[in-house]
Amino acid sequence: MKEITTETTIGEIVRAVPATSRIFENLKIDYCCGGKKSLAEACRGKGLDPATVIAMLSALDQPANGAPANADAMGLSELCDHIQQAHHGYLREELPRLDFMTRKVAAVHGEHEPRLFELRKTFETFNAEMTTHTNEEDEIVFPEIRKLEAKSNGGAVVILNLPASLEKLEREHDSAGAALEQFKALSDNYTPPDWACNTFRALYDGLAHLEKNMHQHVHKENNVLFPKALAVAGKPGKTESKPHAASQHL
Ligand SMILES: [Fe+2]
Ligand SMILES: [Fe+2]
Repeated sequence: MKEITTETTIGEIVRAVPATSRIFENLKIDYCCGGKKSLAEACRGKGLDPATVIAMLSALDQPANGAPANADAMGLSELCDHIQQAHHGYLREELPRLDFMTRKVAAVHGEHEPRLFELRKTFETFNAEMTTHTNEEDEIVFPEIRKLEAKSNGGAVVILNLPASLEKLEREHDSAGAALEQFKALSDNYTPPDWACNTFRALYDGLAHLEKNMHQHVHKENNVLFPKALAVAGKPGKTESKPHAASQHL
């Protein structure tokens, strides 16, 4: 990527070199919902020296074998397919399992650790919201984004009010990000107590994986797919924006 400076945004850095997301995870810098912040701003918030962080990031500026999928190199349809497979598919498998475990662990151990009740309540809302959100992307928004590739070749007509729809999805990502922060705080950074049973331990392990997968997921949408789709939608082509119909629907 071009040289990283203190003004480069976190989202641009991870978009160019996805492996840098690991460094941001370790430094507890939010690279998905907080992707629009400059490196200087993010470092200030965490009391970190930007020059040291730039040196760490620059050392990784070479894609290596086994690096996370490079979303930035994908076309719109390919990226939609990738997100659906790696992230929506993951949520469809994982949310029912975590739903069962949050319910069971709260019921069995809630009296001993009352924060489990709050964790269960936060998970219920997160589960319902993410299921609706993911369905909306799968059934409405991603098909429209795929059409943009055909549109740029003079093909399909895009009818969705894309800026409004994507803004709404980004607000929902912020809400999901707040729930993930809650999970982490309520579980002492996913650290089970000494007396925890295996289901309790599996739950915290599952929530830690959920956080990592969601960070990658939201980064690929907020910082890569959505800006790319908006850039293509802004070019002349057969776009018919119907804000009223779309905003009522979405
Ligand atoms: Fe998604
Ligand atoms: Fe999303």
